[in-house]
Amino acid sequence: MGGGIAQVVAASGRRVSLHDAAPGAVERGLEGMRKSLGKLAEKGGPGPDEVLARVQPVDDLAPADLLIEAVVEDAAVKEEIFRRADAVLPDGAILASNTSSIAITSLAAVTGRPERVIGMHFFNPVPVLALVEVIRGLQTSDETAAAVVELAEDLGKTPAEARDFPGFVSNRILMPFINEAVYALLEGVAEPEAIDTIAKLGFAHPMGPLALADLIGLDTCVAIMEVLHAGFGDPKYAPCPLLRQYVQAGRLGRKSGRGFYGYKSF
Ligand code: 3HC
Repeated sequence: MGGGIAQVVAASGRRVSLHDAAPGAVERGLEGMRKSLGKLAEKGGPGPDEVLARVQPVDDLAPADLLIEAVVEDAAVKEEIFRRADAVLPDGAILASNTSSIAITSLAAVTGRPERVIGMHFFNPVPVLALVEVIRGLQTSDETAAAVVELAEDLGKTPAEARDFPGFVSNRILMPFINEAVYALLEGVAEPEAIDTIAKLGFAHPMGPLALADLIGLDTCVAIMEVLHAGFGDPKYAPCPLLRQYVQAGRLGRKSGRGFYGYKSF
């Protein structure tokens, strides 16, 4: 998602520094951005070269007015980034997280600027989906929330504000839906294609819950369910054992070439 976020920010005319600790990840991100920008250029969007010229790959966190963190859904990894960002970015900078479910309040607490820490949650594929869920931590200031709402609008997105409760609004609704679909599969209620067809045609969803889980990443789905489970202490949020088993097998969805479905190129 980091590439998609960098893309929409750069397409709005802003300069972006893009960093990923994993070798090759920035290159893969840039490749994805070029492909996506190519599709959008056919519909009147800006040229890929023009947008990509504003994206600068960097070896480490770099000073900026805004950080948007989009790393793995692991609180310890995110906290370490927020600690370092607090040291590297200027005092007035906003530190935002694209987290799906991890508490903004706890990310804010590892920094010396909790009033300037906020959730800026994009949706996959970022260049296509219009929503940005804006999540205020306990100490996020009105000024920070207003700046992020204004930015989201300037990126051509529609912001919607939520409070900092497990899964916020989006994943509190979406993940139990996906998890229940995996239970239906586990219990042999229907084949994957039938489960997805029922959601697509019955509820007019653009894709079914199993295909969507493959798009999001099954490891991410498990991580979010675990946050819901721990945060609410309610067994209804426990990840379905089949979902866990697919992750154990390395079937993570599109990104690994196989999840509930197989994918040729990833
Ligand atoms: N960049 C630019 N354009 C893209 C694109 C991308 N990355 N991906 C798709 N498109 C364009 C295609 O070119 C196509 O354009 P056209 O209509 O002009 O030909 C259009 O979008 C539709 O794409 P496709 O024809 O390939 O296929 P679909 O009609 O099935 O659309 C989809 C694909 C946009 C992924 C659609 O199925 C969809 O919206 N699915 C639901 C996605 C969703 O629910 N995302 C949220 C996940 S939750 C999340 O991210 C939060 C996290 O916390 C878990």
